Amino acid sequence: MFSFNRQSIFVKIFLLFLLVFSLSVTSHILVTQKVERELLRKQARSISRLIILTRQWVASMGGVWSKDFYSKDHGYLTSYTEEVRSKKPAVFYLHNPALATREISTLANIEHGYDFRVVSDRARERKNEPDAFEADAIEKLYFQEDNYVEDFSGDVYRYVESLRVKKGCLRCHGNLRTDVKEPMRTILMKKYGNKAFGYKVGEIRGAISVRIAKNNMVTQLSSVFSYWNYIIAFATVVLFYLFSRFVVVRPVQKLTNAAMEISSGNLDVDLGIKDTQEKSRNEITKLAFAFEKLRNSYKFLAGRMANK
Ligand code: HEC
Repeated sequence: MFSFNRQSIFVKIFLLFLLVFSLSVTSHILVTQKVERELLRKQARSISRLIILTRQWVASMGGVWSKDFYSKDHGYLTSYTEEVRSKKPAVFYLHNPALATREISTLANIEHGYDFRVVSDRARERKNEPDAFEADAIEKLYFQEDNYVEDFSGDVYRYVESLRVKKGCLRCHGNLRTDVKEPMRTILMKKYGNKAFGYKVGEIRGAISVRIAKNNMVTQLSSVFSYWNYIIAFATVVLFYLFSRFVVVRPVQKLTNAAMEISSGNLDVDLGIKDTQEKSRNEITKLAFAFEKLRNSYKFLAGRMANK
């Protein structure tokens, strides 16, 4: 069995070195991970802030109208045809905040760093239905205090932040009889049916879901390691080796050999302290002086025995 106590000082120092080294590497990795998480969360927050601002901007103008064009993928909320005599009539299509965000979100691409979308557990539009993680997150948002749920475990960082109903939302999401007025009521009912009405101010209407590609900082950090780091690591190992060899192990070995010599009768062996002061703080030098005293007592006793 491995007994630490029976190992040489050199092995002990080497084990200590390994321990200190791995502890410092571990603490480095932990700190890096923590910094990475903070950065990801900050980035996700600012993305969701930007989405909310964009929605506000669109809402403040009563939605965005596009002339003669809408994308088949996203559709439009309602249209309005402007008849001008002499010209061909122009058709305008309405993009309400949720639709505009949906259109913008398809421009974002996780391959370029991040993407986002707006989801809801009571979605009008099928494309806004949550995936398993988002559904679970929304479920949690109902009960927890924090307004977000996050997940670091996969290749992408996921962040889901609640989107609550404000007064302005009621005219399209509020009570069908009291809050939602014509012509919006007919427009919404025609397009989505009786979906996502009846909300009150403050309730969770859905969530902003952000995904950010993780360019793992720990791997990135290890890729910045240059040959200098290897040289420094190598130099540290060499320094440890030289220190334990020449400052600890070699002097102790010398003393051991001297003690063996003395015990076999060679009293004049060199203890290596001829030009040294006894006041030294070096424990090994102190030990050598103790040996010196032992040798003198031994000489004295041997002399007395011989004289008898
Ligand atoms: C002008 C009407 C209108 C207003 C005002 C409005 N919404 Fe919507 N909202 C819609 C429509 C229409 C959809 C479905 C949009 C789509 O096609 O993605 C929708 C969808 C959503 C969705 C996505 C889930 C789903 O049902 O598909 C969320 C979340 C949402 N709205 C939240 C809000 C919030 C929060 C406000 C107020 C800040 C608000 N909406 C104000 C009309 C409106």
